[in-house]
Amino acid sequence: MTVAGMDGIDLSATEFWGLPLPDRAAAFALLRAQPQPPFFAEPETPFAEPGPGYYALVRYADVVEASKHPEVFSSAKGATSIPDLPVEFNEYFGSMINMDNPRHTRLRRIVSRAFSPRLIAKFQDDVQRAAAEMVDDLLATGPCDFVANIAAKLPLKIICDMMGIPDDQYQMVLANTNIILSGADPEFLSEDLDQAVLQVLGAGQALADLLTGLAATRAEAPAEDLVSALVTANIDGEQLTTAELASFFILLVVAGNETTRNATSGGLLALIENPEQFRRLKSDPAMIKSAVEEIVRWTSPVIPSTRTHSIRQVRSHSSTT
Ligand code: HEM
Repeated sequence: MTVAGMDGIDLSATEFWGLPLPDRAAAFALLRAQPQPPFFAEPETPFAEPGPGYYALVRYADVVEASKHPEVFSSAKGATSIPDLPVEFNEYFGSMINMDNPRHTRLRRIVSRAFSPRLIAKFQDDVQRAAAEMVDDLLATGPCDFVANIAAKLPLKIICDMMGIPDDQYQMVLANTNIILSGADPEFLSEDLDQAVLQVLGAGQALADLLTGLAATRAEAPAEDLVSALVTANIDGEQLTTAELASFFILLVVAGNETTRNATSGGLLALIENPEQFRRLKSDPAMIKSAVEEIVRWTSPVIPSTRTHSIRQVRSHSSTT
């Protein structure tokens, strides 16, 4: 099935993702109604020649099925971008999200030890305190840019605190995560290809250097944070190498910042656009739990994931709106 056969729907076109939600929902309804997963040409990117194209798995059952069979649908060539990750990116971005078993299981086993119930309980208290302080500040300062002052600031503070990153490094972390996740956005990346690659690698290097410094300090004097726990995590003699630690750290700060920022911003926008829902939530604050689930579903901060089919070497790109 070609794009032309579906009224020009092209999931690889940046413009498609800028369409209003009802238009995108209608396009996905059409894609889901196709007898076979639709096939698309790969988008142009600054980092790689376009590959052979990909099938988009747009039905829930197909996405579940592909996720259950990593031996066929591999994450190893990059789980979050359609083109293969350039090999020079591996040093900083070759983390568990871009791995299959047994490497994935090994890393999960080691890092999950770091997330002890005691540390999680402490983080929970820290999150509540940070959120309350931000709301207090907001009441004192009045109207502001919600994205910069709340949606970006809260996750950044939480993740940096969890890791044990000092607050004078928050802005550096934010700036570098923005570069890494900018795609080809000229607001963050040069339009010159070589320059853009250097910028992304430089951002990875800056975060890796931050981790290496922190890890050395914490190995000497552990504190109650994730870097200390990761440096000392040791399962049956297994430990993370410095490179694994750095790329896991980069994954956590990058994945944690962008997703939650977009969910929070999109969630507020959805409540403003649906005042009846906003009124219901305010009148019954106990609804916040299901509201959070619904906000994550509605805003879908991570829409596509990519898997590479191990037999046919064709990318499959699932979209779950
Ligand atoms: C609304 C918030 C979030 C959403 C929607 C989200 C979504 C996702 C999705 C869809 C994946 C799987 C990608 C794939 O299978 O290819 C993933 C993986 C991951 N996310 Fe998130 N995420 C969120 C928040 C966070 C936060 C706050 C952190 C860390 C502080 C985080 C860390 C990770 C990590 C480490 C993985 C890789 C797990 C693995 O490979 O086993 N995410 N996330």
